[in-house]
Amino acid sequence: MKRLSYIAPLACLMLVVPAYAQFTKSGDAVEYRQGVFTVMSHHFGLISRALKGEIPFKTEEVSANANLVARLAKLPWGAFPVGSTTSDSHAKPEIWKKADAFKELAERLQTQTDKLAAVAKDGDASAVKAAFGDVAKTCKECHDAFRTKHE
Ligand code: HEC
Repeated sequence: MKRLSYIAPLACLMLVVPAYAQFTKSGDAVEYRQGVFTVMSHHFGLISRALKGEIPFKTEEVSANANLVARLAKLPWGAFPVGSTTSDSHAKPEIWKKADAFKELAERLQTQTDKLAAVAKDGDASAVKAAFGDVAKTCKECHDAFRTKHE
C-alpha cells in the first residue's frame, strides 16, 4: 500500500504533462504542434463535410468531432517556445515579435471551439454552421498573419 502514495501524484503529473509539454529541441516542438494542427484540421474538416452534405450530418459524430477540435485547440500553444523554427516549420518570426496578438488569436480559437462543441450537442445544423464559420475565420486570420504559405 505504501507504494501507492507516490504513484498517485505521478499519475496526476502524467495527466498534466501534455498541456505543458516541454521541448529541448525546436524540431520536437515543431513536430508536436504540426501534429496537433494536422489532427485538429482532420476533425474540423469532417464537420465541414457534414455541413456541406458530403457525409451525413449525424449529431453524435459532429459533436464528437467538435469536442476533439475543442480539446486539440488547447494544445499547440505550449509548443511555441521563443524562436522555435526549423526548415520544416511555417511559423513566422512575428509569433514572438507580436506575442500578444498571437496569444489573443490562440485564446479566441479556444473560446470559439468550446462554443462550437457546445452548440454541436444540440444538433442544430444552422447553429453549428455559424459557430463553425467563426472558428474558420480565426484559423485564417492567424495563418494570414503568422504562418508562411505552403509552396
Ligand atoms: C493563433 C494562431 C493559429 C490559429 C488560430 C490556427 N493556427 Fe493553424 N497553424 C498556425 C501556425 C503558426 C502554423 C505553422 C506551425 C509550424 O509549421 O511550425 C499552423 C499550421 C497549421 C497546419 C499545418 C500543419 C503542418 O503539418 O504543417 C494546419 C493543417 C493548421 N494549422 C490548421 C489549422 C486549423 C484547421 C485551425 C482552426 C481550427 C488553425 N490551424 C488555427 C497558427 C494557427
